[in-house]
Amino acid sequence: MPEETLTIRDNRTGTEVEIPISDGTIHATDLRQLGLMSYDPAFLNTASTRSGITYIDGDAGILRYRGYPIEQLAEHASFLETAWLLFEGELPTREQLEAWEEEVRHHTYVHTNVTQFLDGFRHDAHPMGMLLGAVAALSTFYPDAKEIGDVESRRLQRVRLIAKFPTIAAWVFRHSRGLPYVFPRNDLDYIGNFVNMTFEIGGQHEPNPVLQRALEILLVLHADHEQNASTNAVRGVGSTQVDPFSAVSAGIAALYGPLHGGANEAVLRMLDEIGSVERVPEFIESVKAGHGRLMGFGHRVYKSYDPRAKLIKRVADDVFAQTGLNPKLEIALELERIALEDDYFVSRKLYPNVDFYSGLIYQAMGYPTDYFTVLFALGRLPGWLAQWEEMLSDPEQKIARPRQVYTGADERDFVPLANR
Ligand code: CMC
Repeated sequence: MPEETLTIRDNRTGTEVEIPISDGTIHATDLRQLGLMSYDPAFLNTASTRSGITYIDGDAGILRYRGYPIEQLAEHASFLETAWLLFEGELPTREQLEAWEEEVRHHTYVHTNVTQFLDGFRHDAHPMGMLLGAVAALSTFYPDAKEIGDVESRRLQRVRLIAKFPTIAAWVFRHSRGLPYVFPRNDLDYIGNFVNMTFEIGGQHEPNPVLQRALEILLVLHADHEQNASTNAVRGVGSTQVDPFSAVSAGIAALYGPLHGGANEAVLRMLDEIGSVERVPEFIESVKAGHGRLMGFGHRVYKSYDPRAKLIKRVADDVFAQTGLNPKLEIALELERIALEDDYFVSRKLYPNVDFYSGLIYQAMGYPTDYFTVLFALGRLPGWLAQWEEMLSDPEQKIARPRQVYTGADERDFVPLANR
C-alpha cells in the first residue's frame, strides 16, 4: 500500500476499505470493493487521464504548454513551433523547425475532389458544418490512416492534418463567399499561406505582417487546453481506434457548440443584440434574471481572469491600430467593467474567457462571424493531435465507455397496439 491512502467506511454495512491516493486522486475502480460506482455527470471532479501536455491552474490563472508559460510562447513562438512542442514535448532546434516547416509545406495540397464536395454545400452553409464534413471525408482519401498502431503512420497523419487543415479552412471561406478556390503557395509561411488562400483576389493580396502575427498569436493561445470538451471528444472517439481524421472531426463537432468554441460567434451576436453602451446595464440585468448567459464569460476551470483573454486584449490593441477600432469594443469593455464589479459575476467567479475578445479581432481582420470558430479549430488542431497521440501511447487507456445509473422502468410485459 502506498504512503498516501484513504480509508472509506460504508455505513450501510460497516465495511472499511483503504484505497491508495496518487497525485491527489483516487481510482474510481477502487470503489468497486464496496460495490460502488462514482457518479459525476459532466466530469466535474473526474480526471479521465494522466497528461504531460498542458498545465492549468484555474485559480491562479496559469496556463503552460509542456511547462512553458503561455505568455512566453505567445510572445516568442510561431504556431508550427508550438505544434512541434505539443507533439514532441520539447522546443525544436532550428534544424528541426526548418525541417518540420518544410514537411508541412509539402503536404498542403488536398485532392481536388474535395473542391467538388465543398461545391455541393449550399451557399449559406455554416463554415463549421463544412469543415466538419470535409475533414471527416479526408479519411476516405487516406485509408492508411487506419493504421493507428503504427507510430510512423500516426506521425504522417499528423503532418497531413496540420498541413491540409488551413487549405480546407480557407476553401470553406471561399465557398461561403462564392469565390474560386486559391491553391497553397510554397513560397509563403504557414500563416501567410492560409491568409493568402482566404483573401487573395485576382492573384493579389497585400500581406499585413502585424495582422498575420496577431492571427498567429491567437492560434498559439488556442493550441491546447487540456481536457476541454472537444479534446475529450477527440480522445473519446479516438479511443475506439478509428482513424485520426474521423476523431478530429468529432473534436470539430464539439467545438461548434456555443458553450465551447462557438462562444466567440455568440459573443458577436450578443454585442450586436445589445447594440449600444447605454443598453449594457439592461442586458446585464436580464442575464442575472436568468434570460441567457453573458457569452465569453465563465469557465469550467478558470476561476480567475483567463490568461489567454489578458493576452488577447493586448493583441486587440495592435490589430485595432491597423484596422481602426471595432465599434463593438466599447460595448464589450463596458460589459466587462460592469460584470467585474457586479456581485452576481464576482461571487460565481465569472471572468472573461478566451472567446470574449477574440471575435472582435477576427471581425476587424475581415472574417465573418460564422467563421470565427473555424479559426479556433485551426488553432486547437495541434492540441487535439497531441492528446490523441498521448492517449494511444498510454497503456492505462481503453475504449472510453462511461457507466450509468439506470433510472428507467422495471421489467414489464409488452402491450399489443390494440390494447394501448
Ligand atoms: N453568464 C451568466 N451566468 C453564468 C455564466 C455566464 N456566462 N457562466 C456560468 N454562469 C453561472 C451559472 O448560471 C451558474 O449559476 P448558479 O450557480 O446560480 O446556477 C454558475 O455560474 C456556474 O455555472 P455552470 O454552468 O455550472 O458552470 P460550468 O463550469 O458548467 O460552465 C461554461 C462553464 C463555460 C460552459 C459557462 O461559464 C458558460 O456557459 N459560459 C458562456 C459560454 C462561453 O463563453 N463559453 C466559452 C468557454 S471558454 C472557451 C472554450 O472552452 O471554448
